[in-house]
Amino acid sequence: MTHSFVFATNNAHKLEEVRAIVGRQADILSLRDINCLADIPETGKTLEENALLKARYVYENYRMNCFADDTGLEVEALNGAPGVYSARYAGAAHNSDANVQKLLLNLRSVANRRARFRTVFAIIINGKEHLFEGVIQGAITLSRRGGSGFGYDPVFMPDGYAKTFAEMDSELKNRISHRAIATIKLCHFIKCYYS
Ligand code: IMP
Repeated sequence: MTHSFVFATNNAHKLEEVRAIVGRQADILSLRDINCLADIPETGKTLEENALLKARYVYENYRMNCFADDTGLEVEALNGAPGVYSARYAGAAHNSDANVQKLLLNLRSVANRRARFRTVFAIIINGKEHLFEGVIQGAITLSRRGGSGFGYDPVFMPDGYAKTFAEMDSELKNRISHRAIATIKLCHFIKCYYS
């Protein structure tokens, strides 16, 4: 029997990444698939709080097993910023170009380029909450490189690679990313839960 989960997002990139990893193990529905048109507020002060807020919204309103993620880019020289505010770094408009521009500007002439992406998934399954984390370490490049992906991909180069996320094909990025690591933990949990 295939189990269904709502992934509390309408972001096509994320849905594609998660569906590719989950495979036939579960049906992943988007918010649009369940006719949820709400813009669920992300008012938490941590990635964990935001992931839980979104998952709880779906569970409380639709009573469906569900999960939600929140991701932040944590830059060492900026004391972990933009972190939970990554989407709004350059303002409320959630403009990726402006966010990247601001990041490069704030790191101008900063030698320490160390950064990490961190994804937290909150899953609610039959009313019980669980959290999973995925982290990938890397560095912020001096300028944008590559045309794939989204968000901060053009300026994030993961350790062990000479390419930014935006220079990689999506298959490679989806295999090594912060979200992939967190998703694999999530899938393992789902598998064990139903076995
Ligand atoms: P959210 O948690 O998906 O809302 O992501 C927060 C911010 O991080 C947004 O600005 C996204 O564009 C960015 N972001 C999330 N995941 C990635 C990624 O895999 N690559 C690049 N940027 C990302």
